[in-house]
Amino acid sequence: MTTLRLPGRVDAHVHSREPGYTHKEDFYSGTAAALAGGVTVVLDMPNTIPPTATPERLAEKARLAAAKAVCDVGLFVGATTTYADAYLPVATQACAVKIYVSDTFGSLRIDTLSLLHQLFRTWAETAQGTGYRTHDRAGGLGPITVHAEDLMLSACLALADLYHVPLHIAHVSRRSEIELIRKAKEHGINVTCEVTPHHLFLSTDDLGRLGNLGDMRPRLGTPDDVAALWENLAYVDIFATDHAPHTLQEKGVGAAEAPANPPPGVPGVETMLPLLLTAVHQGRLTLQDIVGRCINNPRRIYGLPEQPETWVDVDVDASFVLTNKQLLTRVGWSPFAGMNLVGRIQEVVLRGVRVYGDGQILAEPGSGRVLFVQPE
Ligand code: NCD
Ligand code: ZN
Repeated sequence: MTTLRLPGRVDAHVHSREPGYTHKEDFYSGTAAALAGGVTVVLDMPNTIPPTATPERLAEKARLAAAKAVCDVGLFVGATTTYADAYLPVATQACAVKIYVSDTFGSLRIDTLSLLHQLFRTWAETAQGTGYRTHDRAGGLGPITVHAEDLMLSACLALADLYHVPLHIAHVSRRSEIELIRKAKEHGINVTCEVTPHHLFLSTDDLGRLGNLGDMRPRLGTPDDVAALWENLAYVDIFATDHAPHTLQEKGVGAAEAPANPPPGVPGVETMLPLLLTAVHQGRLTLQDIVGRCINNPRRIYGLPEQPETWVDVDVDASFVLTNKQLLTRVGWSPFAGMNLVGRIQEVVLRGVRVYGDGQILAEPGSGRVLFVQPE
């Protein structure tokens, strides 16, 4: 057995589903699954019911997370078409604003140029008063994080350039997109991006086998798209999961009748580290690739505070077949089930306390911290 000690990892794209969808996940089950995956900070997405789009909703979500989370949580705010800028008074208390420009699950879609333009302009105006948050500077704003596919990506890049706003592109999945981001970076635009494990390790070739369990937004790419992500890894700043749990029933698995509109999205927070370590084992990634994209870069991009005395011990020799049974996510399934993986998470220590060990959550609900939000 060879034990590797890593710093606590960040998953910068997680749907904890609370409030509104707690039959899929809540702040306890989602952060428990995170610890089981060697993650000590999750950044939670705003497409809940109600959406995290006003100061009251952010405060309510912070209270829910503070009561239940077993790892630290940063909260995104979102923009709705009716209340586009309603979150601005609490913008510094969010890890970032998330704008859903392309097809998604939930009610937060913004796809007109006028609204998109307004959101970039008001974020930039707010930053003139507060600045942008950096790794060693609290306060200020995070980046604007967008789900923007295809041509919408070019609109967001242009707006970020015009308003000098740091832009983070969520879940990049296509050759055309990673090549445009590469060009934008070479041109000096302040843009960063993330890629999910499902877009790195699955493709349209897996759709026949996975059915609805392979359906998410952005959709799986072709093998050529996947190859492009690997070729351009140097331009990928973050590996994040887009942990987006839906129940097997909602996905239509085992249902007598196929659901009319099965929701897109797949869970992933607890399977990313073994998948990445397996790629290290195969010589496709280095450990430094993981540390940069799961720890240092997300901390820098979102200005996350240090977590002292925090680490994850992994047995990098342990190989196992991933089964749904071993998962802590409430929905109890993974698109990677059945895969042979190398690297078992043995223990997680958060601020000097053993919070996960021997397959068990040892932390008390509420022991995780909610980042950036001021107590009322
Ligand atoms: C996400 C969800 O279910 O919340 N689904 C998905 O397919 N990724 C929404 C999103 O991230 O766009
Ligand atoms: Zn998402």
